[in-house]
Amino acid sequence: MRPELGRTAVILAGGLTQQSATELIHSGLIDLAAFGRPYISNPDLVARFRRGVPLTTSDPETFFGGGAVGYVDHPTAAEAPTNA
Ligand SMILES: Cc1cc2nc3c(=O)[nH]c(=O)nc-3n(C[C@H](O)[C@H](O)[C@H](O)COP(=O)(O)O)c2cc1C
Repeated sequence: MRPELGRTAVILAGGLTQQSATELIHSGLIDLAAFGRPYISNPDLVARFRRGVPLTTSDPETFFGGGAVGYVDHPTAAEAPTNA
């Protein structure tokens, strides 16, 4: 499929992890990886990927409607409480 696409970039989303996205890009199958749910619960997703910080799991119960809860109240890694 890639040759027919010419200079068109292939962007994939759906259940990707940092590892699977990296592998798909390195394999040449895709050009860019997109993230939906991980971004909802990790406003600093890129920083977490860069630093190897574990991701906060998103809550599907809060996804569609009902208010701002679940969208604007997930802490960044720097804001999250520690167990120390
Ligand atoms: C709450 C929520 C809202 C979404 N709204 C849209 C939307 O408006 N338009 C769209 O194209 N995709 C929308 N998506 C799909 C995401 O863009 C993405 O394709 C999907 O979540 C799969 O990627 P993920 O496994 O990284 O979450 C939405 C997903 C979620 C969870």
